[in-house]
Amino acid sequence: MSLSVSIASQSENLISVHQPLTLGLGSVTALAPMQDVTDICFMNVIAEYGCPDYFFTEYFRVHESSRLDKPILRSITENTTGKPIFAQMIGESIPDLVRIAKLLSDYPVAGIDLNMGCPAPRIYRKNVGGGLLRDPDKIDRILGELRANVAGRLTVKMRIGFEDTSEFDRVLSLIDKHNIDLLSLHGRTVKEAYHGAVHYDAIAQAVARLRCPVLANGNVSSAATAMSVLSQTQAAGVMIGRSAIRNPWIFRQIWEALSGAEITVVTLEQVREYIDRLYRMPTAQAVPEKSRISHLKMYLNYIGQSVDAEGGFLREMRRAKNEVELFDICDRYLLTHPQGVFSPEPYPGIFARPKCED
Ligand SMILES: Cc1cc2nc3c(=O)[nH]c(=O)nc-3n(C[C@H](O)[C@H](O)[C@H](O)COP(=O)(O)O)c2cc1C
Repeated sequence: MSLSVSIASQSENLISVHQPLTLGLGSVTALAPMQDVTDICFMNVIAEYGCPDYFFTEYFRVHESSRLDKPILRSITENTTGKPIFAQMIGESIPDLVRIAKLLSDYPVAGIDLNMGCPAPRIYRKNVGGGLLRDPDKIDRILGELRANVAGRLTVKMRIGFEDTSEFDRVLSLIDKHNIDLLSLHGRTVKEAYHGAVHYDAIAQAVARLRCPVLANGNVSSAATAMSVLSQTQAAGVMIGRSAIRNPWIFRQIWEALSGAEITVVTLEQVREYIDRLYRMPTAQAVPEKSRISHLKMYLNYIGQSVDAEGGFLREMRRAKNEVELFDICDRYLLTHPQGVFSPEPYPGIFARPKCED
């Protein structure tokens, strides 16, 4: 089943929370929620290079004393991209999930999204995020209460299981039972974290099994990969995380691939400008140089995967001690041959190693 969207009319179609996510033409794209990355400033940068059809907030933590996190709320209240944004929650306390979902519903959100996929041990040990996948009875109760109390769309982002896929079919039946409006599915188990191949066959299974649209997530690294994943899974669209940090042109390139247009070639010079944009983001301005540098290095870890096949940029960039050193390295690798091509895929064997990967 495919998610709405004739590209031209998507915002009008989807912005009203009371409208169901209906069928339409074409496939859709979404920027995956990424904690400490996909804030309002990053969303604005992405939107300039080629906007996805949907955004998701970083997760709002939900517990007994939780309030709406103000910086995350800004990605909803200050969203001028013209594209709908879903508000994501992570938690396990049913009354508090209902309470926060109701608070969030007062804001201009496309829907409320529940995180059932976070693989960080400090998170899943509390039985939240991916930890919920160990307890389908609890999922049943949470989704039942949220469905009963959320007037607009209710969506889920999850993985295909905790340790293995033994409960996958049961969890899918709960997604159907509670009339979830959209499932974003990372085709790995919690224990697989980010390692190994993505099980696109499991995503195809969900697409075939569910009434709601499914967004395929996990290692969608280029327009070509997106086309292949859409064809393998028949998903309504793709959700992209790390490759959108590496290559913010990816949503535009996917749109071009879907519409049969020539795919934009990105030059090293354009990537150098993108790095400047990241460094000039207002969030970066507010912190001391050392923190700004380490925050920029987080992005550069992804970008560097497509700069040179030998990984020289990544090695040197990681050792840079200050702004001058770091930008010298960027200039050397990106402006010596400014018209050089930024690889649409990460070079084989070149890995990003940012500190935090939830
Ligand atoms: C730095 C980072 C932060 C993340 N934070 C969240 C989050 O807040 N909520 C969530 O559902 N997933 C989070 N994820 C998972 C991504 O949304 C996505 O499912 C995962 O990265 C796989 O997609 P990709 O291969 O396109 O990156 C995070 C991933 C990364 C790398």
